[in-house]
Amino acid sequence: LVAAFQPKVLAGKRILVTAGPTFEAIDPVRGITNLSSGKMGYAVARAAREAGAEVVLISGPTALPTPFGVQRINVQSAQQMYDEVMRAVHGQHVFVSVAAVADWRVANPSTQKMKKTGDGTVPDLKFEQNPDILATVAQRTSLAGYPYCVGFAAESENLLEYGAAKREKKGIPLLVGNIGHHTFGQDDNTIILFDENGHTILPRADKLTLARALISEISKRIDKHSL
Ligand code: CTP
Ligand code: CA
Repeated sequence: LVAAFQPKVLAGKRILVTAGPTFEAIDPVRGITNLSSGKMGYAVARAAREAGAEVVLISGPTALPTPFGVQRINVQSAQQMYDEVMRAVHGQHVFVSVAAVADWRVANPSTQKMKKTGDGTVPDLKFEQNPDILATVAQRTSLAGYPYCVGFAAESENLLEYGAAKREKKGIPLLVGNIGHHTFGQDDNTIILFDENGHTILPRADKLTLARALISEISKRIDKHSL
C-alpha cells in the first residue's frame, strides 16, 4: 500500500538500471563472479517504478523476483550486460549502474569442462579487461538522447576519498558509495551520495527506503539534464 502513495517524481521518465553481479565463464560449469545479491539494484528499479517511471532492469544472475511492472533482461557476463545496455540506453532519461560488473574476464575460457589432473596441475588462467559500461554511457551523456548517469561504488576502505575520486574519474554527476561488508547480501545499508558539491550521508535504513531516497535525489537533479 505504501508503494501506491510514493510521489510520482519520475512520471513520464524512462530509467535503465543494472543490478546483480556478472558471471565470467572459466569453462561450461565454472566461472568467476563478484559479491552482489542484486537487492539494492532491484530496490532502485522498484522505487523508480513506484515513482511513475518506465523501468528496464538489466540483471546479472540473482535469486530475486522481478519487481512489479519492471521489464527485466537477464544476462550473465559483463560483455552481455554491456551489449544489452548499449541496445537499450538511447532514449533513456536516467541510467543507474548498480551492477557489480566483473572488471576482468577469462581470456581463454575452455569450451569443455576442464578435468582435474592427478598430479595437482592447476589451470593457467589468463584475464582480459571487460568494457566499462558506465564510463561508456557517461562519455555520451552530452549527446542527444543519452541519460543522466548515476554510479555505485562498493569500497572496502577510504570511502570518502575513493568515492569522490571515482565520481570524477567516471565523469558522472552522481555516485553512490557504500562499504562492501556493510551491504553485501544484507537488507539494509548506509550510503553516501557524492556530487559536485561534496557528499551527503544517508543514515542506515533498509534498501527500499534508501532506493526511494535516491530516486527523490535523482528526480531533483534531472530537470537540468535535457534528453
Ligand atoms: N561499472 C561498469 N562497468 C564495469 C565496471 C564498473 O558499468 N566494467 C560501474 C559499476 O556498475 C558502478 C561503477 O562503474 O556503478 C563503479 O564500479 P567500481 O567497480 O566501483 O569502479 P571501477 O571503475 O571498476 O574501479 P575499481 O573496481 O578498480 O575500484
Ligand atoms: Ca570494478
